[in-house]
Amino acid sequence: MIDTNHYGPWAVIAGGSEGVGSAFADSLAQAGIDLVLIARKSGPLEETANKVRAHGVQVRTLSLDLLLPDAVAQIRQVTDDLEIGLLIFNAGANSYGHEFVTSELDKVQGVIDLNITRQLELAQHFGAKMKERGRGGIMLLGSLAGYMGSEQQSIYGAAKAFSRVFAEGLWLELKPFGVHVVELVLGVTRTPAMERAGLRFDIPGLNVAEAEDVAREGLEHLADGPVWIAGGNYKAVQQRSGFPRDVMVQAAADGMRTLLGRQ
Ligand SMILES: NC(=O)c1ccc[n+]([C@@H]2O[C@H](COP(=O)([O-])OP(=O)(O)OC[C@H]3O[C@@H](n4cnc5c(N)ncnc54)[C@H](OP(=O)(O)O)[C@@H]3O)[C@@H](O)[C@H]2O)c1
Repeated sequence: MIDTNHYGPWAVIAGGSEGVGSAFADSLAQAGIDLVLIARKSGPLEETANKVRAHGVQVRTLSLDLLLPDAVAQIRQVTDDLEIGLLIFNAGANSYGHEFVTSELDKVQGVIDLNITRQLELAQHFGAKMKERGRGGIMLLGSLAGYMGSEQQSIYGAAKAFSRVFAEGLWLELKPFGVHVVELVLGVTRTPAMERAGLRFDIPGLNVAEAEDVAREGLEHLADGPVWIAGGNYKAVQQRSGFPRDVMVQAAADGMRTLLGRQ
């Protein structure tokens, strides 16, 4: 059960309307934590908010594109009067898959802005207040993609690697002040975003996690940072971390082509 004294009374979920984000909202609401949910599309956002309000918690929604330069100012307008005990930075699926040398740099920048810049800004803003209070938690969503470079998503993978190494440093810095930091690393997880991206979940042997399961697992391990590998992917992480890199990177690329139906 989530410790509401440590992670409450309010949690912010950046990307809290669908998939894993919605599952985090549901689990936290069941535990009695009030929520600020942020996402772009107001339909799914309000639907999730109404669903979790049924657990008796207060919910504020903010329909916002986190890529907007004033995103954090807008989030502050909705949260400055609240005590935020938990930040979950969930939004971050790859928004631009493309070969790098022919890519549009503004779209590349979007992947960096969402996964790195906005994450840093929010972690600093809420983390500083948690440090002052001597309690709280910050969860950043990572990916198996952050353990190995892959074609068409070299920036996404690099951004997730950044997030993981950042989480480790932040974990060290905030641990003495009672603030728990964890990078929750996901493998393939069934979410609306992945379904829209056309990901094939039916490949024999593919380990597909359900959003509710990884969200529950992550919340159970908020205090087990700096990195928690969800969904039974520990071995996959070990494999991706090995040598020699040429053999490993090529083999993973071949597997990814199959996953995406490119061969
Ligand atoms: N699903 C997987 O297989 C998988 C695997 C490894 C890691 N992950 C990581 O797990 C996290 C969740 O992934 P997901 O598959 O659920 O996809 P996602 O596209 O990151 O969606 C998650 C939530 O973020 C919101 N969101 C996305 N972009 C946003 C933006 N620019 N501004 C505001 N809100 C935004 C979405 O709502 P709106 O679209 O309405 O904005 C949704 O509520 C991501 O960090 C992803 O990298 C997922």
